[in-house]
Amino acid sequence: MNGIKIVGTGYAAPSKIVTNDDLAKIVETNDEWITSRTGISRRRHMAEGETFTSITVQAARKALESSGIPADSIGACIVATLTPDTLVPSAACLLQRELGLPMDIPCFDLNAACTGFLYALHTMECLLAVSERKYGLVIGAENLSRIINWEDRGTCILFGDGAGAAVVESRAEWNSISAVLGCHGDGQILRVPGVETAERSLISMEGTKVFKFAVEAVPYCMDQVLEKTGLTIDDVDFFVFHQANARIIDLVVRKYHIPQEKYYKNIAEYGNTSAASIPLVIGELHEMGKVGHGSRVLVVGFGGGLTWGGALVEFA
Ligand code: COA
Repeated sequence: MNGIKIVGTGYAAPSKIVTNDDLAKIVETNDEWITSRTGISRRRHMAEGETFTSITVQAARKALESSGIPADSIGACIVATLTPDTLVPSAACLLQRELGLPMDIPCFDLNAACTGFLYALHTMECLLAVSERKYGLVIGAENLSRIINWEDRGTCILFGDGAGAAVVESRAEWNSISAVLGCHGDGQILRVPGVETAERSLISMEGTKVFKFAVEAVPYCMDQVLEKTGLTIDDVDFFVFHQANARIIDLVVRKYHIPQEKYYKNIAEYGNTSAASIPLVIGELHEMGKVGHGSRVLVVGFGGGLTWGGALVEFA
């Protein structure tokens, strides 16, 4: 099967910066607790006039610019999210209009919570393999500030808003990203009610259980991707982890002896941005020149569902 590689990236975050001290004015918490338990110092929330669609369009435009690929060459558009502005039209349909993408291509949203971007990359790889157009736009974006429960100090401190995008190219001679994806249906540990209930659509989470799940899921995904690709830790140029808690990342890098120059944490600045977290990291790393032409990046995510995923994502 054809494989995909990244040819352009972009990211955008809303302008309102919410510090830990700001949150301490709303719930009983403090900067020391939040920083030591999570690694988060600040997060971005939508300011007046900013919307999910506006920051998603910004990230996507930057990715197109960075790739040099014209909008009319895009063969599919997938937005991984659980917080689009509207359920219908989907965020991807709105992007089709805003960016002037072709009308005869699939544009749709995908929800796999924080693992969404990896699910979307894999889906894009399959779609482009049978598409005449060989470029795809993959986005992860969230407006989580809209679904925060401000009465729950255990969750309201964690989440932020943002968007990240990648333009990918598909070629027959390229290897697959070797995605490893999975889920086991759990209705309680991490939950955002939808239209079927009278409950408000706010995040609830049993943090300690998610933590335990994550520290098993991340190594599992890494091992599976390494086995599938036949690579070792040393063959990988960079490791990108979903930014849910700095302590989870620290445990994993210690377990695999990953040197500091091969991974990156931006959770201090953005908090957990769910589906946007991985493409925000990739976008920043690309902008800083830490990844680029030929880089082999092992990407791992996990989240509500409970879902998990890993893939070896290369830059063209
Ligand atoms: N400020 C101060 N105290 C807080 C607090 C806050 N914001 N939130 C919770 N606490 C308190 C609790 O009430 C509890 O107090 P108690 O012992 O008196 O009952 C204590 O801190 C410990 O709570 P606990 O929930 O056990 O903390 P924790 O060490 O597990 O940390 C998380 C909580 C959420 C930071 C952590 O569990 C976590 O990051 N889990 C993973 C979450 C995740 O990855 N989610 C996204 C999935 S994509």
